[in-house]
Amino acid sequence: MALVRIRPLVDMHVHLREPGGEHKETIASGTAAAKAGGFGAVACMPNTTPPLDTSERVRFVIGRARETALVSVYPIACITVGQRGEALTDFAALKAAGAVALSDDGYPVADEGVMRAALIKAAEAGLPIISHCEPETQIAERDMRLAGETGTSVHIAHVSLRSTVEAIARAKLRGVSVTAETCPHYFTEGASGKMNPPLAGSEDIWAVRRALSDGTIDAIATDHAPHTRAEKAALPAPNGVIGLETAVAAALTALYHTGTLGLDRLFALMRENPAKILRIPLPEGEIEIDTDKIWTLDEEKLLSKSRNTPFPGMTFKGRVFPLLQENAAIATL
Ligand code: DOR
Ligand code: ZN
Repeated sequence: MALVRIRPLVDMHVHLREPGGEHKETIASGTAAAKAGGFGAVACMPNTTPPLDTSERVRFVIGRARETALVSVYPIACITVGQRGEALTDFAALKAAGAVALSDDGYPVADEGVMRAALIKAAEAGLPIISHCEPETQIAERDMRLAGETGTSVHIAHVSLRSTVEAIARAKLRGVSVTAETCPHYFTEGASGKMNPPLAGSEDIWAVRRALSDGTIDAIATDHAPHTRAEKAALPAPNGVIGLETAVAAALTALYHTGTLGLDRLFALMRENPAKILRIPLPEGEIEIDTDKIWTLDEEKLLSKSRNTPFPGMTFKGRVFPLLQENAAIATL
């Protein structure tokens, strides 16, 4: 069967760049890209300028989303003030303002004592912690150990390595409350570009695919990270690739058509699971997927303001048609 109608997807890890990075992306352009990609809800990371480390800034994003967003936008707030890895932010106030999770994404929380305290306070506040792990396997192992020791939960962002997959599988077996996400560029052969964590080897690609199939990894997120052409041409180039408009095609090509995942599991990884991790409502509406449509990406036609796709000129099998989402209700916080 080629045509399937499903509910809109949820992307739990995007960078919308508002405030401060509007030349790269805005909430309007980023959510236009999200809608075109089949997403009805996105959670946006707090590494904006200034970072989302106060309730006022979280409320600013929610207000801008209310005015300009085409899909539901759920802000993630900083774990530490200024993402400096030192003083914790006011988790209860950030939650009251509408933050759905906490992350210093872009930077690891290097100090173990700070992360331990964050896990405990976040559990009290009822907010998930999303850990940017760098070095990936080492910090993921530390944070899963801390979650186990403190009886709390942790979510591991953008898993790219076989060694991290193996560490998560071991922690899950021990009974640690851990969830994890990966991104399309980490399971697609032929992806390119500079991002953090970087692209790894084909053994890692296969380990990530297996982990999506066996439940070690719980969600697919894009880590949509727009940067302009001029910024990407500078030395050193900033880390990040966009992904909202290619996630479904990449997932169908690399996971469904390789026989790694069935459609039900694939779309659970892109809808129910991320919504459950963030405890946000499932978006309403409908999208249409042609699982067999063969098409070639023309990055000039993307709705994102930026062009830094990891898949320039790539041919995919599978495409999303979001037209039926027109009447989707946009959740207001
Ligand atoms: O590649 C990345 N880009 N990794 C991050 O952790 C941050 C992100 C960004 O904000 O551009
Ligand atoms: Zn990110």
